[in-house]
Amino acid sequence: MTFGSTVSQQTERIMSHASSKNFNLTLQIWRQAGPTKPGALKTYSLAGISPDMSFLEMLDVLNEQLIANGEEPVAFDHDCREGICGTCGVMINGQAHGPDSATTTCQLHMRRFNDGDTILIEPWHANAFPIVRDLVVDRSAFDRIIQAGGYVSVNTGGAPDANSTLVPHHAQQDAMSAAACIGCGACVASCKNASAMLFVSAKVSHLANLPQGQGERSKRVLGMVAAMDAEQFGNCTNTAECEAACPAGIKLTNIAQLNREYIKALLVSTE
Ligand code: FES
Repeated sequence: MTFGSTVSQQTERIMSHASSKNFNLTLQIWRQAGPTKPGALKTYSLAGISPDMSFLEMLDVLNEQLIANGEEPVAFDHDCREGICGTCGVMINGQAHGPDSATTTCQLHMRRFNDGDTILIEPWHANAFPIVRDLVVDRSAFDRIIQAGGYVSVNTGGAPDANSTLVPHHAQQDAMSAAACIGCGACVASCKNASAMLFVSAKVSHLANLPQGQGERSKRVLGMVAAMDAEQFGNCTNTAECEAACPAGIKLTNIAQLNREYIKALLVSTE
């Protein structure tokens, strides 16, 4: 992509590089004008889709077509388009982020689909993630869980020397694996209980494994679990759909660590 170019210019460029393998699609997309408005699936035909397009670029092409026809474009969240920010999640044919494992919607490519396919595109399904418009949901419940403990408090001052805080290799590996969570909400959207345990466990494990996270270790897990419950996410029943849907490869072992952290924190808090 070129800096400074508009989505329209980018779409034009993508279309101009279209190959003879371009194909046609039928899209069924959830349209909803606002949180309290009724929603429904709407069907669109799209021609000339390049297999090299990303899924979001395909939606850009649809929106160009809708705008040209004087219709409302489909609202969908996106930011980095590099699998980093976690904003772009949608249900694609019933799967969070679509058919590829460890892949966000923005990193999914149209070569994964075939000419003549019908693709069903819906927003995340979870009461804790209310629909804002079309495919956009309000994931601020995750922000409130982070505010309840997903941080470390430090006295600011001069930057510490590198390696002044030693971290065992296995602890560093576990912490960094947990820190890979991008907070996209796919775990919630794919769980039959709409549980946020994988997300919360990644945040708790990340900091619990590092020396910098020890000061608030007990307070953190108690606060984040209480916030998760207050936001009305469901319980975990270990069906592991969350792990399968996670584009960042967050493992169920983090949930096991969250449970251990929670029990230990309860014991400490009642001493
Ligand atoms: S747009 Fe940032 S992860 Fe997809």
